[in-house]
Amino acid sequence: MRLQRWLYDHFRNVGTLCGFEEYDAPVLERQELYKRKAGEEITQQMYSFTDKEGVEVTLRPEMTPTLARMVLGKAQSLMLPLKWYSVPQCWRFETTQRGRKREHYQWNMDIIGCKGINAEVELLAAIVLFFKNIGITSKDIGLKINSRKVMGAVLKSMGVTDEQFAPVCVVMDKFDKIGPEETQKELRDTQGLDADTAKKLVDCLLCKSVDDLAALCGEGVDRSGVDELKRLFELADAYGFGDWLVFDASVVRGLAYYTGVVFEGFDRLGELRAICGGGRYDRLLSLYGAVQEVPACGFGFGDCVVVELLKDKGITPVLPKEVDFVVAAFNEGMQGSAMKTAAALREGGAQVDLLLEPKKKVTQTFDYANRVGARYMVFVAPQEWESGKVRIKDLRLGEDVPDEEKQLDVALDDLVKVKEVLEQWALTKKMGAVKV
Ligand code: HAM
Repeated sequence: MRLQRWLYDHFRNVGTLCGFEEYDAPVLERQELYKRKAGEEITQQMYSFTDKEGVEVTLRPEMTPTLARMVLGKAQSLMLPLKWYSVPQCWRFETTQRGRKREHYQWNMDIIGCKGINAEVELLAAIVLFFKNIGITSKDIGLKINSRKVMGAVLKSMGVTDEQFAPVCVVMDKFDKIGPEETQKELRDTQGLDADTAKKLVDCLLCKSVDDLAALCGEGVDRSGVDELKRLFELADAYGFGDWLVFDASVVRGLAYYTGVVFEGFDRLGELRAICGGGRYDRLLSLYGAVQEVPACGFGFGDCVVVELLKDKGITPVLPKEVDFVVAAFNEGMQGSAMKTAAALREGGAQVDLLLEPKKKVTQTFDYANRVGARYMVFVAPQEWESGKVRIKDLRLGEDVPDEEKQLDVALDDLVKVKEVLEQWALTKKMGAVKV
């Protein structure tokens, strides 16, 4: 949980730093929301059941349809563009493997209501900021970029219809896993493409640059997607993260709803599954009933692969248990006074672990404080208590420091502002040392 909290704090911090607002939603959704006909894997991986009212529900496999539903539900009252983030738990009945689990948390950032490529660049900037914040560089990670708009134009020029486009993309997305032969076979068998078109489509996936891909379009084909992609790379340079981006025509993404730029985070060593992925989905809200097209784009970033990456790099953060104070009563008779002490310290914002059963030996109390990572020990003993004080001992000072310099008697009334008192004490000791 400490590692999880650390990671999610970083997710949320980036969301906030980029001016996004956090949202959440129920984990249970109507199955209907995920009924798409393009043959996406995700629709076959759901944990679904019929509830006691006979409604077919499912544990969400992803957040995007939920977000679309929420935005539509509030369409009248929301000011676009929306910039929203969330860290939802998602379920997919997948074959579990390194970086893929049946239950995962997925950081999502989405922008609703912005047509232009600036939105995609903003999302990519957020991903890069996150990586930098956790110590990962562009040498470890790259972001593969492609555009379904460009793919769409190319495919159209090869005779693939608008209706065929989404399911064809879902098949093309398997290219990495099943290779060129199988992809062509599946395009022929399941999408009814002729052998020549299937081969040409697979050739598209191997294009090395935006221009190569555009060249396949030929004359008279919509080039707006190409211009957009070029602008995206320019803006990424302007933003200062151009070195993270790589054009890759084989990234089409396995979800049917993407319509424009698509992207995926990958490890440069090629050992891990996709780290994150997203893109533009301008028609998803219309699919759910929006009267006009609502431009949208976003990404999902799981909590599993990134942890594997940190492990491989040897930079998983060391996050020991820590607490400011252990409060220990001298004996059972002093337990009430120890409780009063703990209450005052907590009121002042300190983290306090109250020892519940006074130990027989002082060394056992210190062992306990050590185990829970306490910075200070507060002894609540009759002698100080009678003069309205408790004894605080700094546990991080070394053996070489004499005991009387490690401890301070603090008045009960000062416990609520103990942090100030201790800072002042540390300062006085430092000044004393300078004088010597
Ligand atoms: P996705 O590519 O299916 O996209 O998932 C996004 C990310 O979620 C993956 O790159 C991975 O980090 C993580 N992920 C997915 N499945 C698992 C799993 N079984 N175990 C661990 N991590 C997993 C989507 O879900 C889109 N809804 C993203 C999006 C948001 N597009 C626009 N907005």
